Amino acid sequence: MSDSPVVPLLDLKPQYQAIKAEIDEVVAKVITSQVFILGPEIEALEKELAEYCGVSHAIGCSNGSDAIVLALMAVGATHGEEVVCPSYTFFATGGAIARVGLTPVWADIDPVTYNMCPKLAADAAAKCRKLRAIMPVHLYGQAADMDAFAALGARFNVPVIEDAAQAIGSRDAHGAPVGAKGAIATWSFFPSKNLGGFGDGGMCTTDSAAHADRLKMLRVHGSKIKYQHEFVGMNGRLDALQAAVLRVKLRHLESWHAGRQRNAAFYDEAFAKAGATDSRTALSAGGFPLRFPYRIPAPARHIYNQYIIRVPAGMRDDLRAHLTEQKIGSEIYYPIPLHLQQCFEYLGAKKGSLPHSEAASLETVALPIFPELTQEQLAHVARQVAHFVGAGSKTAVGV
Ligand SMILES: Cc1ncc(COP(=O)(O)O)c(C=O)c1O
Repeated sequence: MSDSPVVPLLDLKPQYQAIKAEIDEVVAKVITSQVFILGPEIEALEKELAEYCGVSHAIGCSNGSDAIVLALMAVGATHGEEVVCPSYTFFATGGAIARVGLTPVWADIDPVTYNMCPKLAADAAAKCRKLRAIMPVHLYGQAADMDAFAALGARFNVPVIEDAAQAIGSRDAHGAPVGAKGAIATWSFFPSKNLGGFGDGGMCTTDSAAHADRLKMLRVHGSKIKYQHEFVGMNGRLDALQAAVLRVKLRHLESWHAGRQRNAAFYDEAFAKAGATDSRTALSAGGFPLRFPYRIPAPARHIYNQYIIRVPAGMRDDLRAHLTEQKIGSEIYYPIPLHLQQCFEYLGAKKGSLPHSEAASLETVALPIFPELTQEQLAHVARQVAHFVGAGSKTAVGV
C-alpha cells in the first residue's frame, strides 16, 4: 500500500506548471498596465468566450452566483415571482434566486443524468401562480434536455435561464452548445471548473442585444454613463487579472476537456469490467452495486467537470472512508438537496417530496477526474473503488 500513489480530488498545480510561462507573462502585463477593473482584457475575453460558446454576447462578471442574480435582474424578475429549478444542485442556484427576492420552486431530477426532469419541471410550473423563469442546471458538465426546457419556456411564456456554471463547452443531445437555447446562460470560473480562474469570476451569455446591454449596466450599478443610474444594479464586475488568466487558459480548454473525457472512459471501462452498469439501471435492480455516469451519446458532449458514481446509501460513507485511507480524494456533490436546507425551510418542502434528489444526495460520490491524472493514479482509484464495492456487496450492504 505504501507504494500506491496519492490521488487528490483535484490538483491545480500541474496545470499551472504546464502554462506558467504564458500565465506569468500576461499577469505581469496587467500589473504593468495598472488597469484592473474591466478594460481591454475583459473585452477581449468576452469576444473570445462568445465565440467559444457560439453566442452573440458574453458579459464577464464577479462570479457564477452573481451571474445568476444579474440574469434574473436582466429579464426583469421582481420580488415574489417564482422560478422553477432543481433542488439537487450547488447552493448558488437556489440562493441567487432567493437573493433577488424570488421564490425557488423545486423540481426533481431525472435519476439517470441527475439533471432536472422536464416533465416534473412542467408539473411544478403548472402549479405556479407567478412563474417568472425556468432554470435548468447542466449538472456535472452534461447538458440538460434543452429542447424540452425551451419548449417549456415557450409554453409558459417565460425565459429559460441556464445555470451552466459546470458546463462550459458541453453540448446537448442534438449537438447544440450549452447556452445556445436559453435566454441567458450563466457561468462560473471558480478555480475547480474546467475553465477556472485564479480566484472568483463568472459570465453571462446571451444572443439578445437588449439583455446584453442591460447586463453590462447591471454589473456597474445600473449605469451606462458614469454617475447616472437608470436602475439599481450591483458591483458585479470581472477584474482584468482574472480575464488575462482565463484568456490563456481558454487556449488549452479543449485539450483539458479531452483529458477528462479520456479519464472518464478509463473509469467507465474499469467499472464495467468489474460488473457495474451505467446510471440508466437503478441500484434497486440489483447486480454489481455500482453505477458509473450515463453519457448521452454524440453529438452530445459531456465535459466531466465532475465524475459521479452511485453506490447504495449504506455503503457510500464507508467507501469514502476507505478511499481516504488509500489517500484518494472524493467528495459528495451534494449531500443535502436545497429543499431540505435550513434556510429554505420557509418554503415548506418536506423530506420525501423530491425522492430522486434525496436518493442521489445519499448515494453519489465524485472521484478524481482532473486531466493531469496519471494512468497509475486512475488505475489505483478504479481498483480501490471496484474492490471495496465488490467486497461490500458480498456482505450485503443494504442494496
Ligand atoms: C451549478 C452551479 N451554479 C452556480 C455556481 C456558482 O458559481 P460561483 O462559485 O462562481 O459563484 C456554481 C459553482 O460551483 C455551480 O456549480
